[in-house]
Amino acid sequence: NKAQAWSARFSEPVSELVKRYTASVSFDQRMARFDIQGSLAHAEMLAASGVISNDDLAAIQGGMQQILQEIEAGQFEWSIDLEDVHLNIEKRLVELVGDAGKRLHTGRSRNDQVATDIRLWLRNEIDISLGLLQQLRAGLAQLALEHADTIMPGFTHLQVAQPVTFGHHLLAYAEMFGRDAERLTDCRKRVNRLPLGAAALAGTSYPIDRERVARSLGFDDVCRNSLDAVSDRDFAIEFCAAAALIMTHISRLSEELVLWMSPRIGFIDLADRFCTGSSIMPQKKNPDVPELARGKTGRVNGHLIALLTLMKGQPLAYNKDNQEDKEGLFDAADTIRDTLTIFVDMVPGIRVRPEAMRAAALQGFATATDLADYLVKKGVPFRDAHETVALAVRECETRGCDLADLSVAELQAFHPLVGDDIHAVLTLEGSVAARKHIGGTAPERVREEARRVLAESANR
Ligand code: ARG
Repeated sequence: NKAQAWSARFSEPVSELVKRYTASVSFDQRMARFDIQGSLAHAEMLAASGVISNDDLAAIQGGMQQILQEIEAGQFEWSIDLEDVHLNIEKRLVELVGDAGKRLHTGRSRNDQVATDIRLWLRNEIDISLGLLQQLRAGLAQLALEHADTIMPGFTHLQVAQPVTFGHHLLAYAEMFGRDAERLTDCRKRVNRLPLGAAALAGTSYPIDRERVARSLGFDDVCRNSLDAVSDRDFAIEFCAAAALIMTHISRLSEELVLWMSPRIGFIDLADRFCTGSSIMPQKKNPDVPELARGKTGRVNGHLIALLTLMKGQPLAYNKDNQEDKEGLFDAADTIRDTLTIFVDMVPGIRVRPEAMRAAALQGFATATDLADYLVKKGVPFRDAHETVALAVRECETRGCDLADLSVAELQAFHPLVGDDIHAVLTLEGSVAARKHIGGTAPERVREEARRVLAESANR
């Protein structure tokens, strides 16, 4: 059996099951473009260093160009006998250009080759997701600008707490996705280093120029230790951690969209194209997209744990365990990419029902804190003011009315320092407008912050 690149040493072929068990070509073929890019950079360096001839280089370049075309046209014949993307492409190269193709692997191993491919692939995914995160932030900020004055109840414990503006609420997510972008940007620095040159584990005796290869592939630096270069996947784990946080933020937003769209709450509506109906209940319009996004968070969290577990018991240097890094990593990247793409489309189309938000904010004594603060500003110690307002709320509950429904005289019965200016304080508008410090919910602040997010996301 001469099919495998390493088969000369073996006296019997592997079984069909073992072949399938150990092959990765079904999933690692998606790195083909990057595998070829890495091979070309390696070959150019070998020629520049005099390890292969310029004729060999030209033959490799021509062959690779054809292979790339075959792959892109869907005409490339992937073979499980050839195990993985690397050996499939190399075998085809030899078919096309003969000996020059056989010289490509000089000074290289699949161990440093695969680590390079994953990094090139992941760098591209990071750049795409970074763009999507900024688009999503821009969508949130635009909607926030339109709803800087729209008042809704803010919740703690899912109980009405204090009035906030809907714009302020949206900008909370713009902050979360901003930090997610920072995390990806930071992770990218450690992804963007070149393993090639590490060869199998110990480096190589050929006169290679790693810095040249790094430059031509756009890497910031080379990995400084050959054993580490081929064996660690911490950069992929970091990416999965960042992806898990992105999905966690998406999931929290999704949970709110689902709640807000419930007819019992009715704060928003989503465009029909993000919802589905029921096969039995004709009245239904279900928020499937946010629900599914919330659900898909679980699989990305799972990939993070799987990769951490994959790494923890491995002695240096490369072990075949590492082949298991790809499917989870690919799926994590696909999931955030698809989810963010859909949210970029969905968020600007959220239809807001300001009346429903306002009606909800008027229930549940959302301005009780404002009444307490009013008394404090008149000299009452905060704890006493808190107690006084609690008694007033209790009274309102028995009567079935709101604090704002009580007359000045009735409020004065709870505390003599209540004056004629009290009702301005008890309005929703007065409450949000008063919180105008940096990070506060006041409409003027929300407009300012939304414009900052818009400018920031346009710059990236
Ligand atoms: N398909 C392998 C992987 O994904 C490539 C490296 C194989 N190296 C080896 N020595 N078997 O990790």
